[in-house]
Amino acid sequence: MSKSDLYPVDPAIAARAHMDSAAYDAARVAAREEPDRYWSEVAKRLDWSRFPTKIKDVSFDKADFHIRWFEDGELNVAYNCVDRHLAERANETAIIWEGDDPADDARITFAELHEQVCRMANVLKSNGVKKGDRVTLYLPMIPAAAYAMLACARIGAVHSVVFGGFSPDSLAGRIEDCGSRIVITADEGRRGGKKVPLKANVDEALKKVAVDTVIVVSHTGGAIDWVEGRDVRYEEAAAAASPECPCEPMNAEDPLFILYTSGSTGKPKGVLHTTGGYLLWASWTQAMVFDYRPGEVFWCTADVGWVTGHTYVVYGALANAATTLMFEGVPNYPDVSRFWQVVDKHKVDIFYTAPTALRALMREGDEPVKSASRKSLRLLGTVGEPINPEAWRWYHEVVGDGRLPIVDTWWQTETGGALIAPLPGATDLKPGSATKPLPGVELEIVDAEGRPLEGAVEGGLCITDSWPGQMRTVYGDHQRFFDTYFSTYPGKYFTGDGCRRDEDGYYWITGRLDDVLNVSGHRMGTAEIESALVSHDDVAEAAVVGFPHDIKGQGVYAYVTLNADVQPSEDLRRALVAHVRKEIGPIASPDVIQWAPGLPKTRSGKIMRRILRKIAENDVTSLGDTSTLADPSVVDDLVRNRAQSQ
Ligand code: WTA
Repeated sequence: MSKSDLYPVDPAIAARAHMDSAAYDAARVAAREEPDRYWSEVAKRLDWSRFPTKIKDVSFDKADFHIRWFEDGELNVAYNCVDRHLAERANETAIIWEGDDPADDARITFAELHEQVCRMANVLKSNGVKKGDRVTLYLPMIPAAAYAMLACARIGAVHSVVFGGFSPDSLAGRIEDCGSRIVITADEGRRGGKKVPLKANVDEALKKVAVDTVIVVSHTGGAIDWVEGRDVRYEEAAAAASPECPCEPMNAEDPLFILYTSGSTGKPKGVLHTTGGYLLWASWTQAMVFDYRPGEVFWCTADVGWVTGHTYVVYGALANAATTLMFEGVPNYPDVSRFWQVVDKHKVDIFYTAPTALRALMREGDEPVKSASRKSLRLLGTVGEPINPEAWRWYHEVVGDGRLPIVDTWWQTETGGALIAPLPGATDLKPGSATKPLPGVELEIVDAEGRPLEGAVEGGLCITDSWPGQMRTVYGDHQRFFDTYFSTYPGKYFTGDGCRRDEDGYYWITGRLDDVLNVSGHRMGTAEIESALVSHDDVAEAAVVGFPHDIKGQGVYAYVTLNADVQPSEDLRRALVAHVRKEIGPIASPDVIQWAPGLPKTRSGKIMRRILRKIAENDVTSLGDTSTLADPSVVDDLVRNRAQSQ
C-alpha cells in the first residue's frame, strides 16, 4: 500500500480529542491487563443508584459459560439518558426531528423529553405493563419512537423494536417469539413521499397472534381501522396520564431490549442486551469514536429498527446529553441533495451513515453535495458493511471537502456498539479499513481449524474476551446463543465475518463467511428468504445466495425449482418477488430469480452454495470440484440457463 493511502491524524483534532494515540495505547493495555480497574473507572460516566463493586465475570468455556458485567450495580437507563441532564440542560435540545417532508421538523428539549417519556411510561403502566414484560414497537422515525424506548427502560419493560419495513408476517413472528402482549405503533409512517401503513400491518399481524393492547400514535392522521377494547389512542391516554413517573431501579444485568437479527439458519434470533454493560458501551463508544462533546449536533441516519438506531440515535447519544437528529425520510427525497440540506439546516457536526447510501449518492455526481455548504460538519462516519475505498475517498473529498476524518465503525447487533473503529485523535486512517480494535476488544484471526494466525493474515474474525456491550443471550434460547457464537471455535466468540490484518495491524473486514447476506447494510439470512419462496404454492425448492451489487453491496440471487406441473413465466417471477416482499418485507426482494430445474447437491442432500455463488457472480470458469455432487450435470444446466436468463 502506498503512503498516500494513509490519512494521518490532524494534530488539531488530536489536541482536543478525548483520546490521543498515547491515551489509546495506554487504554488498550489497561483494559487488557486490569479490566476490573479500567471498566470500573469508565463506569463512572454513568449515574448508578448503586455503583458496582463486581465488574467483570466472564467465561466463554462450555463448562462454565457465563457473561456478567457490573453484576451488583443498579441504575436506570432512562434516568441516565434524560433525568440526569435536567439540572444543567433542561432547555437544550435533546432531539431534532426532521420529517420526510422538508417542511416538517421539531425540536424537543430535555425537559420536554422527560415529560413525554414519563407520560408514555404511565400509559404503559395503566395498560398493565410491568417490569420484565416485553413491549413490541413498530413505529416510524418520529420522536415517539424514542419516547417509547425510553419509557420501557424507565419502568423496566423490555422493548423489541421491529423495523417499520418488515411485513405483517415478520412482525407477527417477532411478537410471538418474545410473547409481548402489547404493541406500540402509529397510524402511518412516511418515507420518500409515500405512506407506510403501519397500523394496517399491525392489524394484519394480529390475525396470526393475539395481544391485549395496541397503542396507536397519530402521525399522518390517515384513516385506519379501529378495534374497540384493544386499540388505544395514544394522545388521549397521554393527556390523561401524569407527567411524572419514577425510574425503576434496575440491576445492571436486567434485560434492556430484544432486537431480532438474521443468522445463517432458522428464524431471526432475539438478541438480548442488558442494562449496565450495554449503556456503558453505547455511551463510551459514542463519546470516543465520534469524539462527541455536548452541544454538538449528532446525526446517525439509521432507523431505530436496527441496532445502529438503538445505540447511536437513542441510547449512546442521549446518555451523553447529545443533540441527536432523527430523520424520518430517505437520502433522495425530495431530491438527492437532501442529506446535505439537512446538514446545513440543523448545523450538523457529526454525520454517520451507511456505505450503500454513499454509493447511491456518488452516482449522482458532486453537484448535489456542493450545492450545500456543509460547513458545520467536523466528522464523518460509516457503518453496516465494508466501504469500498472509492466511496471512502468520495466521502472524504467531496462530502468532507478533503478536511473531515471518516470513522469506519465495524460492529454487529450482537456487539451492542462499535468494536473496531478509528478514534479521531488517535488513529491514522486507511480507506476501506475499520482500522483497529477499541480498548477492551481482543481480536483474533483464525484459520479453518480455529488456530490463531499471527501477523499479516486473512481468516475468520474471533473475539477472545468479553466487552461490556456484548449480547447476553438469545431470548428464550440460551443454548442457541452458545451454539451460534461459541461452538465453532471453542473458547472464542466467532463473529461470522472474514477479515484481513495488514502489516500495520489494521483490520479489513472482507464480508460474511456464513449464509448471512448484507443487502444495503441490512442483514438477512438466506434461509429466511428461501423459506419465504418455498411457502409459495408453485415452488418446490429454492436456494438463495448473494452476488456483488454496485449500490447495495450485495444483491439477492434466488435459484428456484418449480413444482413439476408449473411453467416458468415473467408473471410468476413477479409474483414470487411480491410474495417475498409480503412474507418478509421489501428489503428481502430477490434481484434475480433463476429457474433451476435442479440444484447442485451432495450425495447427502446438502446444497453446494459455493457453486451457486460462483454462478451468481458469473465466475463460471472456476467452479471447483463438482465430482462430489449427486448429479454434476445440474451445474451445466444452471450455467447454460444463466447465460440465457441474463
Ligand atoms: C457488517 C450493524 C465492514 C459485518 C452495526 C457484520 C461491517 C454485520 C461494518 C453486522 C463495517 C458492519 N465494515 N462490515 N464498518 N459494520 N458490518 O448486525 O458483516 O446489522 O457482521 O450490525 O455487518 O450487521 P448488523
